[in-house]
Amino acid sequence: MAHRGHGTDPEPFRVILALETSCDDTCAAVVTGEGEIRSNVISSQGVHDRYGGVVPEIASRHHLELIGDVVDDALARSGASLPDVEMVAVTCGPGLVAALLVGVATAKGLAAAHELPLAPVDHLHGHVAAAFLGPAPFEPPFLSLVASGGHTLLARVTERGPGYEVIGHTLDDAAGEAFDKGARLLGLGYPGGPALERLARDGDPDAFEFPTGRKLAGLDFSFAGLKTALLYRVRDLGEQEADQRRADLAASYQRAIVESLAIRVERALAQTGLERLSVGGGVAANGPMRDRMRSLGIELHVPARELCTDNAAMIASAARFVDVLPYPNYLDLDVYATGERMLIAR
Ligand code: KG4
Ligand code: ZN
Repeated sequence: MAHRGHGTDPEPFRVILALETSCDDTCAAVVTGEGEIRSNVISSQGVHDRYGGVVPEIASRHHLELIGDVVDDALARSGASLPDVEMVAVTCGPGLVAALLVGVATAKGLAAAHELPLAPVDHLHGHVAAAFLGPAPFEPPFLSLVASGGHTLLARVTERGPGYEVIGHTLDDAAGEAFDKGARLLGLGYPGGPALERLARDGDPDAFEFPTGRKLAGLDFSFAGLKTALLYRVRDLGEQEADQRRADLAASYQRAIVESLAIRVERALAQTGLERLSVGGGVAANGPMRDRMRSLGIELHVPARELCTDNAAMIASAARFVDVLPYPNYLDLDVYATGERMLIAR
């Protein structure tokens, strides 16, 4: 173990190097065992917008090109070097298999070369575990809402490990997917969430009424009808008027997504008796969504925006609370595409 090399009582670095490549962001982070972020590097590929979505094989190829530099950058910015790392962590799923494989193969190589243990992390546990990062970790018990491009779920979190209980999830599209598809209908680029949020700033959220799925009882979400409602509304208005009222359409559509999330959060708080809420996932970067959750008047944890969207610091955070594989027991570690542990939890 290396030492910082100054002062009379040098402290050893005790850091985790984490990798995340489940979708189109190539991420590496260095985090201490206490959850202090030393570096958090995110390289967004920015090559998928011309296709209107992420193309798995292209994402995979870009991860391969970027991962070495992203890891070097994360180490350099943290002030640590590879011999300072005491554990490697990596996202094993759910996500795009070809993309996940790049992170897992790289992590295995780094860990094995230094005979380090490896922590396999579930991406959704990562989003939940963003709440446990410093400087002010949010401790269980709390209700967690994870709303991203691939997943939307509510979980009762009573421990920091992966044993949280999923109590609601989407029956069709994810909330971020609803943003992306709505944005596409309004002629905006990918990823649609931030673009739609920007357009909505000039619009009236009460201009149009879109379904929030209020009639769907329970804690599950549904966004497919909302997207269809926008499609029909744009058609009914006709090209010219729809074009003139794009900001109103965006603001009203965004309002419906946010309300749909808020309705289930309120139900879940009432049902579980929990009085504290943490939000995460890319959609939690949305300003009106953050404001709406603040308006609930409960104790709320909203991570910094770069910890809501995909990042490796949250993977390092989760890694502290999973079963770690000692060297060399991870050489046959595999990836998985779907949220299998989410289904087990239900
Ligand atoms: O968590 P994330 O980075 O990746 C996944 O695990 O999917 O979430 C990406 C999703 C995309 O659908 C993107 O449009 C959405 O989060 N998103 C937003 C905002 N920033 C990202 N949605 C609404 N408003 C935003 N500001
Ligand atoms: Zn994610």
